[in-house]
Amino acid sequence: MARVSLRLMHLVLVITLFSVSHAENNSSSQGQTLLRIQQLLNLPAVLSRSNNYTDFCNIEPSLSLTVICYEEKITQLHIIGENTAPLLPRNFSMDSFVTTLVKLPSLKVLTLVSLGLWGPLPGKISRLSALEILNVTSNFLYGVIPQELSSLSSLQTLILDENMFSGPLQDWLSSLSVLAVFSAKKNLLNASLPNSLSGLESLRVLGLSHNHFFGEVPDLSGLTNLQVLELEDNAFGPQFPKLGKKLVTLVLSNNKFRSGIPAEVSSYYQLERLDISFNMFVGPFPPSLLSLPSITYLNVSRNKFTGMLFENLSCNTELQSVDLSSNLLSGSLPTCLLSDSKDRVVRYARNCLATGNQNQHPLPFCRNEALAVGIIPDRRKQKKASKAVLALGIIGGVFRRENASTGYASKLLSDARYISQTMKLGALGLPNYRTFSLDELEEATNNFDTSTFMGEGSHGQMYRGQLKDGSFVAIICLKMKTSHSTQNFMHHIDLILKLRHRHLVSALGHCFECYLDDSSVSRIFLVFEYVPNGTLRSWISEGHPRRSLTWTQRISAAIGIANGIQFLHTGIIPGVYSNKLKITDILLDQNLVAKICCYNLSLLEENIEQFSAGGSTSFHVGPRMKHDDGTDVHDFGVILLEMIKGRSIKSKTQVEVLKDQLQVAIATDDVARRSMVDPRVKQTCLDQSLKTMMEICVRCLREVPADRPSFDDVLWNLQYAAQVQDAWQQGESLSSEGSPVSPSKPPRLTF
Ligand SMILES: *[C@@H]1O[C@H](CO)[C@@H](O)[C@H](O)[C@H]1NC(C)=O
Ligand SMILES: *[C@@H]1O[C@H](CO)[C@@H](O)[C@H](O)[C@H]1NC(C)=O
Ligand SMILES: *[C@@H]1O[C@H](CO)[C@@H](O)[C@H](O)[C@H]1NC(C)=O
Ligand SMILES: *[C@@H]1O[C@H](CO)[C@@H](O)[C@H](O)[C@H]1NC(C)=O
Ligand SMILES: *[C@@H]1O[C@H](CO)[C@@H](O)[C@H](O)[C@H]1NC(C)=O
Ligand SMILES: *[C@@H]1O[C@H](CO)[C@@H](O)[C@H](O)[C@H]1NC(C)=O
Ligand SMILES: *[C@@H]1O[C@H](CO)[C@@H](O)[C@H](O)[C@H]1NC(C)=O
Ligand SMILES: *[C@@H]1O[C@H](CO)[C@@H](O)[C@H](O)[C@H]1NC(C)=O
Ligand SMILES: *[C@@H]1O[C@H](CO)[C@@H](O)[C@H](O)[C@H]1NC(C)=O
Ligand SMILES: *[C@@H]1O[C@H](CO)[C@@H](O)[C@H](O)[C@H]1NC(C)=O
Ligand SMILES: *[C@@H]1O[C@H](CO)[C@@H](O)[C@H](O)[C@H]1NC(C)=O
Repeated sequence: MARVSLRLMHLVLVITLFSVSHAENNSSSQGQTLLRIQQLLNLPAVLSRSNNYTDFCNIEPSLSLTVICYEEKITQLHIIGENTAPLLPRNFSMDSFVTTLVKLPSLKVLTLVSLGLWGPLPGKISRLSALEILNVTSNFLYGVIPQELSSLSSLQTLILDENMFSGPLQDWLSSLSVLAVFSAKKNLLNASLPNSLSGLESLRVLGLSHNHFFGEVPDLSGLTNLQVLELEDNAFGPQFPKLGKKLVTLVLSNNKFRSGIPAEVSSYYQLERLDISFNMFVGPFPPSLLSLPSITYLNVSRNKFTGMLFENLSCNTELQSVDLSSNLLSGSLPTCLLSDSKDRVVRYARNCLATGNQNQHPLPFCRNEALAVGIIPDRRKQKKASKAVLALGIIGGVFRRENASTGYASKLLSDARYISQTMKLGALGLPNYRTFSLDELEEATNNFDTSTFMGEGSHGQMYRGQLKDGSFVAIICLKMKTSHSTQNFMHHIDLILKLRHRHLVSALGHCFECYLDDSSVSRIFLVFEYVPNGTLRSWISEGHPRRSLTWTQRISAAIGIANGIQFLHTGIIPGVYSNKLKITDILLDQNLVAKICCYNLSLLEENIEQFSAGGSTSFHVGPRMKHDDGTDVHDFGVILLEMIKGRSIKSKTQVEVLKDQLQVAIATDDVARRSMVDPRVKQTCLDQSLKTMMEICVRCLREVPADRPSFDDVLWNLQYAAQVQDAWQQGESLSSEGSPVSPSKPPRLTF
């Protein structure tokens, strides 16, 4: 076998024009082809009259160029440029280049790396029908991978890494029956994988990392030879792929996997490298991964794995690198990982482990997060139970009062409107609180498109989004001005996830966006239910286009608001006070149920810098009454006033004036009272009901906070007003039976 090496330093192909002319015909033709290649690749030729031209099969191989001949024919050509090869000039034609290449029909191995080749890969390259290995790594080839490659029946290795190929992998790939290595890392391939991949029975290595692939990985469990599967940095998911047991390397990091790890992974006895980091894998971390018989590298960081680790777990002594960081693991780090092996890397930061060496979250963090992604079923049950207890307590209160008052208890209880807010506490019909991924929110808002923008407050922007399940959400985006870890915000999240009530615009979840360098929080997204039917004002005050609420609906709305505020005060710990509520902060849903938005979340406070700079906690967990400065009752009074008057109230003075007028009317007669009320409901409200509403309104607006009623008191009066109104309306319709209802005023209503 003759060999010639052409020394190629800095892309200088040493071959002479004249050399080929002295060669016998076949060599001559190949030499000319090589020369043409040199020209097309724009490699500065060093023309030499040396005699080595006849014999290019004999030149010493180098890093840059190797020509290998078999029986005078070139069977291998390796040309390797510099890593930073620029694009070939504009007049370069990939088509002419390949046309030239195929004049070396005996080529079995072709390597064209870092040459600046650009253009689509011409299908005619398949005329190199003997080709077994094709490696075109690191060029600028684009377009789809040509189907003509499917006729290369001897092709065993196809390496297309670091180009700009796009489009899908097509079914024809499976006709490459001896293909053992297929790698197209770092391209722009964008599609889901064809199921026909599972027909590539010879496949040993499949490398598709750093593309734009998406969707489920097809069932590859039939690829019994598959040893290396690298899918890093795509959008594969959500299910863990089905694979054969002979895997040696499995890299799934940075995708969109959201499932648990299937049990069979623990039987991958040849698995040496497992990297599933940076996904949303959930469920218990299987400790058996640590003791897989061949494992040397294990990276499960940045997922949502839960579960306890124990000191007595065993691990493979060959483990070189273990990364468990940023999960929700608790318990203790296995001692086998802590042993002083000098080469071993063990990372476990940002879990809730008892081992103190690396930055750990407090245990509640992992519990809350686990709860948020809904992966601790028994905890979720616990939570429901506690809500039920709360609901029972409140229902208990309602029973007692109604029973003590007018004997309408049974009717009230049968009337869902009065008790629904308590009954429904435990079953709001809302999805479980959870963490959202940024991807999900971007998708929901079309990348925070301006058309989804709802408004901007002192605290941040609000967007309307539509989730995959079709439901609408409101998303508040808070930009952090100082750098803090997610941990610093967890006490806020702890509070927010409790803010779920029929009369609150309830929190559905959150999403932290972190900076890559130090993982401090850059933005927090709070996801709330979307309440579609406008503000209470738009349903009350004249001059607004909507049909106005009836008197009964107004009382219902008032009861709802009072219930919501009472929940903020006493339904959660610590209570949320000083909500500065205005009528425009009350929204109505499609059933005209009133919901409070814009309650006092300290996370939303303007000076977000101040509190977060303060670090640990900004909640005061002192005696509750201390917080209740009565401002919420006063603000509620103003809302009630507007509901009675049916007119926008714009100033403090106006409130004072109207309050005084109400006070006079209450003490005068029903005509006076009726003159105060919104003309649109004048005809339909019972005086007793109206009077009760006016009275409670005036009391809420009292100057001295201590003189204002409690929300218990407010609620009781509102329910009384609803009840007499209801009874009267029923009496109206039943008046032919001649038993008008005239409920007596209960003794508790005193001034
Ligand atoms: C050399 O081969 C080419 C075809 O590759 C042919 O056209 C030419 O006539 C041959 N020359 C000689 C001297 O055999
Ligand atoms: C040239 O190549 C042809 C076919 O490839 C072959 O038949 C012929 O014997 C070769 N000639 C020489 C002188 O090697
Ligand atoms: C031809 O190649 C041989 C080695 O293959 C080398 O020693 C010799 O110097 C070369 N001759 C010329 C004139 O470059
Ligand atoms: C490309 O253009 C350069 C000059 O700009 C010229 O030297 C070269 O021959 C051209 N190559 C082709 C393949 O036309
Ligand atoms: C393809 O070329 C690249 C760059 O030289 C090299 O790192 C890689 O090992 C080659 N692949 C094969 C299968 O030869
Ligand atoms: C893939 O990318 C190409 C080129 O950018 C584009 O035309 C095509 O629509 C993309 N396909 C998918 C499924 O995203
Ligand atoms: C584990 O994976 C993460 C994210 O993919 C990476 O940042 C980290 O360096 C890896 N850990 C080790 C020990 O290689
Ligand atoms: C390991 O420790 C845990 C708790 O400390 C215990 O429940 C378990 O039985 C132990 N397992 C073995 C194999 O010793
Ligand atoms: C009120 O409740 C008590 C028990 O708590 C019961 O004995 C009584 O009958 C109830 N009264 C009415 C009017 O329902
Ligand atoms: C608002 O409420 C009304 C009456 O219940 C209803 O007909 C309407 O569909 C709701 N939605 C919007 C967006 O107005
Ligand atoms: C929110 O509540 C805190 C105390 O709970 C209070 O200090 C703060 O002033 C309130 N925010 C507003 C806007 O009133």
